Amino acid sequence: MHGRNCRRTDTANRKRRKKACFLRYIGKEYVPLFGTVDWIMKNILFAASECVPFIKTGGLADVVGALPKSLDRSEYDVRVIIPNYTCIPWEYRSQFRYVSHFYMDYGRHVENVHVGIMEYVYEGVHFYFIDNEYYFKCDRPYSDSTQWDIERFIFFSKAVLAAMPVIGFHPDIIHCHDWQTGMIPVFLKSTFATHSFYWGTKSIMTIHNLKFQGVWDIRHFVYNTNLPDYMFTPDKLEFKSDANMLKGGLVYADYITTVSETYAEEIKTPYYGEQLDGLLCARSRSLRGILNGIDMDANDPATDKHIPFNYSIDNFEEGKAKCKEALQDKFGLHKDGSPVFAMVSRMVGMKGFDLVQSIADGLVDRGIELVVLGSGESQYENFFSDLCARHPGRVGTYIGFEPALSQEIYAGADAFIMPSKSEPCGLAQMVACRYGTPPIVRETGGLRDSIHDSTMGEGNGFTFAGYNAHELYVACCNAQNAYYDKENWKNLVHHCMECDFSWDVSAKSYEGLYNETANLW
Ligand code: GLC
Repeated sequence: MHGRNCRRTDTANRKRRKKACFLRYIGKEYVPLFGTVDWIMKNILFAASECVPFIKTGGLADVVGALPKSLDRSEYDVRVIIPNYTCIPWEYRSQFRYVSHFYMDYGRHVENVHVGIMEYVYEGVHFYFIDNEYYFKCDRPYSDSTQWDIERFIFFSKAVLAAMPVIGFHPDIIHCHDWQTGMIPVFLKSTFATHSFYWGTKSIMTIHNLKFQGVWDIRHFVYNTNLPDYMFTPDKLEFKSDANMLKGGLVYADYITTVSETYAEEIKTPYYGEQLDGLLCARSRSLRGILNGIDMDANDPATDKHIPFNYSIDNFEEGKAKCKEALQDKFGLHKDGSPVFAMVSRMVGMKGFDLVQSIADGLVDRGIELVVLGSGESQYENFFSDLCARHPGRVGTYIGFEPALSQEIYAGADAFIMPSKSEPCGLAQMVACRYGTPPIVRETGGLRDSIHDSTMGEGNGFTFAGYNAHELYVACCNAQNAYYDKENWKNLVHHCMECDFSWDVSAKSYEGLYNETANLW
């Protein structure tokens, strides 16, 4: 591996004078020492496989795109690194600037693999892109082959670490997201442990969805990582006789976070733990749950260009009514005073589509109109297409993903259904609230932390606990009954729109964690 050693070249920019209080351990107690010291700006590197606006398949991309902008940039120099996929839209790629390239050992027998580094500053944040056409020439970020993706992302993880000395950005903390970057904490404490450039660098592993872990046979891993056999044991990378990238990250990272407090508790149990609950229990002292935020500007009914009528918390009654009419027109629904309940989601079992499938006819029979947008498993796509055909004027289905239409649904619907089996955080329920559309959710993960039942008092939606169709049906009926009580419904919509789901709150928690992590020995 080549590259300049530019350790702390940026120190001059990082020092700022600040009053600080230090605690020094003297004898048996901590003694506060006051004084003026150099406050060192912290360098944070986000490593991920997707990031808005460049490439997105799910909520992960939203988080990696939004969080860096929300951190206090006078105290944290946050940069982001992702692969330079050729499927990133040309409008962005054409503006990427070449920084450098070098050759890196990769795999047991392959040497000197090309690693290019591109850079682009977008909305004040530095983005880097690891370039290698062999691995990242693709028409979508993930392939159909787990084995191939594992090879691509092990390469990415190693290249990220090899690239930093070349760029001259010395991260105090590398914040890794999901299994694709799980090998970064592993390499940091093994292959790169002897590089003085990384002495003191800490890592945080964030789980966005524990379901995906990057598992393949140990031989393949040994070949690609060149790590010694003794690291493939059950207390390290081994997982049921195979090797597991996410597990590696969870074992070696200094801190682990996930995207809601409830999910942080849930994943310590066998039901949600995806066979890593034992490890997560063992590391529970280093595990935190921090609820995601949403981009409040991009999701603002007062300025959203995709919705037919703009409205705000002060005048939502008229605006939302007009948006609802436009939505009903678009899907050919009757305008007879019925409430419209909507879903915008990937059509997969995890999102609770099996529950909705069982009660959909019942809801229509009760006088609820349904609008469903999404794509995914064919059984659900077929069911909702068929439902629409069976109930003309009562059900609207759109198979596919259409961002503009999703916004119209958030704005035009009366309530939003999200009965997930498991939901680490979930962003759609927060967007729905922002548009004054009370969510009907199952009490799991981030849904439990963001939506509170309003049946008995002040809340911002309707919730149910058990994963069964009956409880979802009751919650929908509660929402429908509440809808007919116009004055109370108005208060509920108002309350939804009042909720602060901005990144500011989460950013403060991440800053606290970064400070704690940087202070670890
Ligand atoms: C994953 C989770 C989702 C979460 C998102 C962002 O997609 O399934 O619940 O909101 O990551 O963290």
